[in-house]
Amino acid sequence: MSRSAHPAGPRHGDVLPEGHYLAPPSDLNALDPKVWSRTVARDASGVATVGGITVTALAAEFGTPAYVVDEADFRARARAWHRAFGAEGVAADVYYAGKAFLSKAVVRWLQEEGLSLDVCSPGELAVALAGGMPPERIALHGNNKSVAELEQAVKAGVGHIVVDSTAEIGRLAEIAERQGVRQPVLIRVTVGVEAHTHEFIATAHEDQKFGFSLAQGSAARAVRDVLARPGLELRGLHSHIGSQIFDTAAFEVAAHRVVALLAEIRDEYGVELPEIDLGGGLGIAYTSEDDPREPAEIATALAEIVRRECAAKRLATPRLSVEPGRAIVGPTAFTLYQVGTVKPLPGLRTYVSVDGGMSDNIRTALYDADYSVALVSRTSEAEPMLVRVVGKHCESGDIVVRDAFLPADLTPGDLIAVPATGAYCRSMASNYNHALRPPVLAVAQGTARVIVRRETEEDLLRLDIG
Ligand code: LLP
Repeated sequence: MSRSAHPAGPRHGDVLPEGHYLAPPSDLNALDPKVWSRTVARDASGVATVGGITVTALAAEFGTPAYVVDEADFRARARAWHRAFGAEGVAADVYYAGKAFLSKAVVRWLQEEGLSLDVCSPGELAVALAGGMPPERIALHGNNKSVAELEQAVKAGVGHIVVDSTAEIGRLAEIAERQGVRQPVLIRVTVGVEAHTHEFIATAHEDQKFGFSLAQGSAARAVRDVLARPGLELRGLHSHIGSQIFDTAAFEVAAHRVVALLAEIRDEYGVELPEIDLGGGLGIAYTSEDDPREPAEIATALAEIVRRECAAKRLATPRLSVEPGRAIVGPTAFTLYQVGTVKPLPGLRTYVSVDGGMSDNIRTALYDADYSVALVSRTSEAEPMLVRVVGKHCESGDIVVRDAFLPADLTPGDLIAVPATGAYCRSMASNYNHALRPPVLAVAQGTARVIVRRETEEDLLRLDIG
């Protein structure tokens, strides 16, 4: 469903108050495989199932709200990324971006499927190590890593540290020298490209906190600084250009600029750096309108771009890495809610309040993100009704799904679910209004288990020491 100008004049009940038109889907009971995880279906009685378990059984056993991760789907997507890059004849690594969602179970799945892991905080590093990820398969990011954090990472033997500032180069070099190691690093380069979904702007994104600017020469100075430090081993360059990107055009510009710096480094210092990391940011379908590309297609395109750019500069193709987060975990989970109230506002829309809200999905309020929603505890033949799904927080911006259709016979007690909430929902969840963050359930082959448990009031009170 998309918001668009009304094509043929208003029709009762489906015109948004802002004067835009939202078409109801042809079948409200359908669960579009574009946005639902792969094992989601409806059983003979119309109840939605995932991994062979009904959502009603999940709600009865674990309560709502809950994030439900389809483990087989997660593994399949992780494997697809790993294979796609491995298959291109280009030496490549896939670093899952843990900021999208990280837990010890996820770390195990990643390891078993052959992926590496990108972390960007000491907390994420702790979970990665606790989950058993070999440290050499971890890359650490961050624009303000403290001395203590860097010491901990070097001591743990983290495979790559992506350096982001002059101060950090000095700190890290000293730590490595003190610990008697040579720490492999990548330099994060700001390539002057900002990309989101279908659009990208080149030369427009210098004004931000991450990385060393190519255009202003600070990337070249960082290279000189790192090469001069015996404690640091410069492995390559890193670039990350944005989020929810649907095509490879912006990556092409980024790769062109990164490879140009590789060539300059070769010309000036006589070294060919062996690695380049193009970051994450590949988009997923949040609604049926979105059409993301398959990992294999993206892998082919990115590998080809890097190969071509390097050939043009007479460089050997470096080892390529990428850092998809959303594209792996995003589509693999939905959030299961129970409807608490249904409040029609005549001439406007119907507000459906669920037992969660902006504390379990801040993306709608923060980014005006679009989501879809479906009634999952039963099917219904009732007419579509225009709804806004809202939470139970004390704030009118507490919106989970801004505009959607649900059947007009929706009643308190029904279960509804919002698909494509695997990325940046649990990881950005808060305790606003002292909400208890929902559990994460992993479902596979007829079994469900809690991989992150629901918070309790004791958890909240444990931090509040009076
Ligand atoms: N690598 C780096 C260096 C990053 O900064 C990011 C995301 C990623 C990889 C993973 O990007 P992904 O493939 O997941 O798009 N909270 C926002 C997204 C912020 C992403 C920040 N960096 C959201 O909810 O959309």
